[in-house]
Amino acid sequence: MRFSLATAALLAGPALAAPPAPRHDDKDVGLNALAQRAGKLWFGTAADIPGTDETTDAAYLKILENPANFGEITPANAMKFMYTEPEQNVFNYTGGDYVLNLAERHGQRVRCHNLVWASQLSDFVNNGNWTKESLTAVMRNHIFHVVQHFGRRCYSWDVVNEALNGDGTFSSSIWYDTIGEDYFYLAFQYAQEALAEIHANDVKLYYNDYGIENPGTKADAVHNLVKELRKRDIRIDGIGLESHFEVGFTPSLQDQLSTKQGYIALGLDVAITELDVRFTQAPYYDAAGEKQQAQDYYTSVSSCIEAGPKCIGITVWDFDDKYSWVPYTFAGQGGADIYNATLQAKPAYYAIADALQGKACSVC
Ligand code: G3I
Repeated sequence: MRFSLATAALLAGPALAAPPAPRHDDKDVGLNALAQRAGKLWFGTAADIPGTDETTDAAYLKILENPANFGEITPANAMKFMYTEPEQNVFNYTGGDYVLNLAERHGQRVRCHNLVWASQLSDFVNNGNWTKESLTAVMRNHIFHVVQHFGRRCYSWDVVNEALNGDGTFSSSIWYDTIGEDYFYLAFQYAQEALAEIHANDVKLYYNDYGIENPGTKADAVHNLVKELRKRDIRIDGIGLESHFEVGFTPSLQDQLSTKQGYIALGLDVAITELDVRFTQAPYYDAAGEKQQAQDYYTSVSSCIEAGPKCIGITVWDFDDKYSWVPYTFAGQGGADIYNATLQAKPAYYAIADALQGKACSVC
């Protein structure tokens, strides 16, 4: 159901009600443990490490590094172009290796993110005077080096990230503007070839985007990209559904489920890759708002459960409001995550636990 926060506040009674008492010990029955019991590969989180405050925040790390909580970590930044190839043909894998080492120490998997995107590129890419041929060579070189360095330590790669506008056309980027739509297909071809050379064909290749979680022109365009890859005999294994939503405006269960089923019908895996549900204005922590947010999380996670094993897992884009990307990108917005800024689990956390167990939502 969609209603404004003001209406939600009226419906839900007094603000600042006591949070629900924890019903289980995270350590024994965390969200990843519940997700795996439900047949998922993981419940995961993004982490913006190393080089940030959270890298040395003991309370944060205690939650992150507990495999009962998270079975997967996505590097929020460390593997992106500007960090992995800061200067042309000079590669730096320190950050990416750091994330992989941390995850592997705790038996957690890593969705490697990302190879080709419009944002967070190195200056040499943004400022180069490229032809189609020379930029294609840069893209190929980047993909081969990075994919082959991290190798089978990656569960999957987001090969191309956010290539489409809302109307399903290719969005402007140095890649598209210089190479044309071939860049999309070539990126997947190069990733496939790079993996084949090191006998790592089991590393999955994903297209990752937002606004493709519900039916519509953009989701249709993703179907067309997949069909074109297939026509060219190029592998794609899955679609990453970012799922950055706003409180009260999460796509319905039916819409999210049917969209996932549509990708699955193409023979693909799907994953919820960047789930968060932000408040577009304060307050972020009143009872009515948190209840609606819990419902929103419950809906998205339930859609993955109902889609069956081909919806392989759910990843939140940071688990705590302290380190969320949201306030830095959307002024005045926040409160998007499942733990608050002092690392207390919010109702959303318990709603997810219910969804993972196929139970009715006890906090929505
Ligand atoms: O590395 C610098 C650091 O040297 C400097 O001191 C600091 C000061 O602000 O900034 C640091 O860079 C920041 C970087 O994150 C690393 O923390 C950038 O300013 C900041 O813009 C960057 O934001 C990232 C954003 O992508 C960039 O578009 C977010 O952390 C990251 O969560 C976000 O992730 C994206 C996914 O990759 C794709 N889907 C959407 C998602 C959310 O925007």
